[in-house]
Amino acid sequence: MDTKVIRVDEQHMDEAVIREAGEIIKAGGLVAFPTETVYGLGGDALNPTSSKKIYEAKGRPSDNPLIVHIADMEALPAIVKEVPEAAKKLAAAFWPGPLTMILEKSAAVPGETTGGLDTVAVRMPSDRVARAFIKASGGYVAAPSANRSGRPSPTRAAYVEQDLAGRIELILDGGDASLGLESTIVDLTVETPVILRPGFVTEEMLREALGAVEEDATLYRDDSGQAPKAPGMKYRHYAPNGELTVVRGAERAVAAYINERLDEGRLENKKTGVIATDETLEGYRADVPRSVGKRTDVSAVAKGLYRILREFDDEGVELIYSESFDGAGVSQAVMNRLLKAAGHKITDV
Ligand code: TXA
Ligand code: MG
Repeated sequence: MDTKVIRVDEQHMDEAVIREAGEIIKAGGLVAFPTETVYGLGGDALNPTSSKKIYEAKGRPSDNPLIVHIADMEALPAIVKEVPEAAKKLAAAFWPGPLTMILEKSAAVPGETTGGLDTVAVRMPSDRVARAFIKASGGYVAAPSANRSGRPSPTRAAYVEQDLAGRIELILDGGDASLGLESTIVDLTVETPVILRPGFVTEEMLREALGAVEEDATLYRDDSGQAPKAPGMKYRHYAPNGELTVVRGAERAVAAYINERLDEGRLENKKTGVIATDETLEGYRADVPRSVGKRTDVSAVAKGLYRILREFDDEGVELIYSESFDGAGVSQAVMNRLLKAAGHKITDV
């Protein structure tokens, strides 16, 4: 299969291109599309065959449920058993935007889309191209991140092409994703809502909208002895090919420790990489030093992380050390992804 790539400008959207993309979905095909978080690999959420194709193209286990993307609130009631008060509150506060809600599903959503679960993940993205595309597709687009399973989520069309060329009909190129990390996932099917994946809609923001909110015990550690509640979070996602370790501590101690490890790695003829910040980059002796941006700008760090992990793979980096990004708010999402990429390997210095 030849994969077409078409550039779409959010300001001057070519309606014919959006229509073409929608027709592919309606005919049971697959289209990758931009969202504000990461690119999605879309298929018709109400067509079981389309969902099977998504799993195949992605190389993903089919017990890992997909997120159903909608373009407006009117689309929600048809795919859920009921719209609980909490969902209304969160939709009013954060939709369209980087928030996914888990709700009881209706019979309209096939088990192929939800990995056999009775619940469904729903998100209304804010990206204008995404919304136009979802509408043109019939209103319900199932989409995981548009990477091959195990690779970092793609933040630009070229990365989707690296992973999925030849496997899908079309890639809509909307430029770089503005946020760069996947949506926050919150489970509303339990008594107290639970965060299953941290993101740009932070714990504090959810608490403000809902009152009490809990966090899945497995988000930042792997020694809880529990399985994560979002089936996808149990897989070692976002993994670079190189061995990644996160180092936590005072700035100077971290740099000194990492430089020693980098020197050791070089003696073993390993290609080394480091994830640093603008403030610290110059102090590292890595083959491939990379800054994720200013430490004081955590949104920039979030936006750059997956790009850098991909660059290490492209450069054949074998040994990677990263600074740590502890803190509240979006830092929680950054640390969650970084720790997963590192297989939870973290050293305190
Ligand atoms: O920002 C995003 O959410 C992106 C863009 C494309 O919208 N999508 C995305 O999808 O990250 P994916 O498939 O890579 O991650 C979805 C996560 C998985 O960990 C999956 O297990 C979880 O959501 N999930 C989906 N449905 C669920 C359900 N019914 N119950 C619990 N977890 C669910
Ligand atoms: Mg993913």
